Amino acid sequence: MALFPPMKLASDEIHLWLGSREVPGERWRRLDSVLSPDERDRGGRLRRSEDRRRFVAARGLLRHVLAAYAGAAPERLRFTYGPMGRPRLAGPHGADDLSFNLSHSRHVLLVGVARGRPLGVDLEPIRPLSHLGAIQRRVFSAGERETIDRLPAGERLTAFFSGWTRKEAFAKAVGDGVWASLGRVEVSVTPGEPARLLKLDGSSDAAAGWSLFHLEPAPGFIGAVAAEGRGLRLSVLRLDAG
Ligand SMILES: CC(C)(COP(=O)(O)OP(=O)(O)OC[C@H]1O[C@@H](n2cnc3c(N)ncnc32)[C@H](O)[C@@H]1OP(=O)(O)O)[C@@H](O)C(=O)NCCC(=O)NCCS
Repeated sequence: MALFPPMKLASDEIHLWLGSREVPGERWRRLDSVLSPDERDRGGRLRRSEDRRRFVAARGLLRHVLAAYAGAAPERLRFTYGPMGRPRLAGPHGADDLSFNLSHSRHVLLVGVARGRPLGVDLEPIRPLSHLGAIQRRVFSAGERETIDRLPAGERLTAFFSGWTRKEAFAKAVGDGVWASLGRVEVSVTPGEPARLLKLDGSSDAAAGWSLFHLEPAPGFIGAVAAEGRGLRLSVLRLDAG
C-alpha cells in the first residue's frame, strides 16, 4: 500500500523529502516488504544491525517517494547504477524524465526529486574533523580557503560544511567521480550569505546555469541541493507523513 499520495512535479520544481531513517517496527516492515532481492542482499551485508535497519528504511522510503511520482507500486520500480554508483530509475519508469538523489547521515534522510534536470543533494552533521586542513587543501580553492580563514573562528566549521555539502551536491548531480567533480566548482561559503555556484571549470558563465540551495535539515546538520537550471522552486515535504 502506498505511503504517500500521487504527486505532481512541474519542470521548474524541486521536491525535497526530509525525515528520519529511524522508523517504528510496523512501518519498517512495510518498507522492508518493497525492497528488491539485490537491495535486501546489500542491506544484509552491512555489519551493524543499526545500519541494516537504516538502509532498509531509506530504500523503502525512496521507493515510496518515487512511486508517488511514477504512478507505480513501489516494489515494481527498478534501479540501475552508473559506473560511480549513482542510482537512477530503469525499466518502464526509466524513460520518465524523473531525476532523484538521496543523502543520509546518522538518522537523517533527504531525498530530492526533479524533472528533466540533473540534481544532487548532500547533508552532513557539523562536527570537528581532525583532518580538516588536509580536506580543505584538497577540495577547496585558494579563494575559498582564504574566505574561510578570514571568518571568526566560531564560523569556520559552518563555512567548511556549507562549502563541502554544496560541492558534494554538485558532484552528486553530475554523478561521476565525486573527488574529480568537487574541484570543478567554486562555491559561496560565508555563513548567512546565499548559496551560490561561483565558478564551474573556471567559468562564472557556466556556473550561472546552476542553482544551489542551503539547507538546515535537522538541528546540527547542514545540507545543500544542486540542480541545473535557474529560477527553480523548492518545496520541502515530510517523509514521516503518510
Ligand atoms: C556516494 C558518494 C558520492 C557520497 O557519499 P556520502 O556523502 O558518504 O553519502 P550520501 O549519504 O550523501 O549519499 C549516498 C547516496 O548517494 C547515491 N549515490 C551513490 N553514488 C553516487 C554518485 N556517484 N553520484 C551521485 N549519487 C550517488 C546513493 O543513492 C547513495 O545512497 P545508498 O548508498 O543508500 O544507495 C560517495 O561515493 C563518495 O565518493 N564520497 C566521498 C567524497 C568525499 O568524501 N567528499 C568530501 C568533500 S569535502
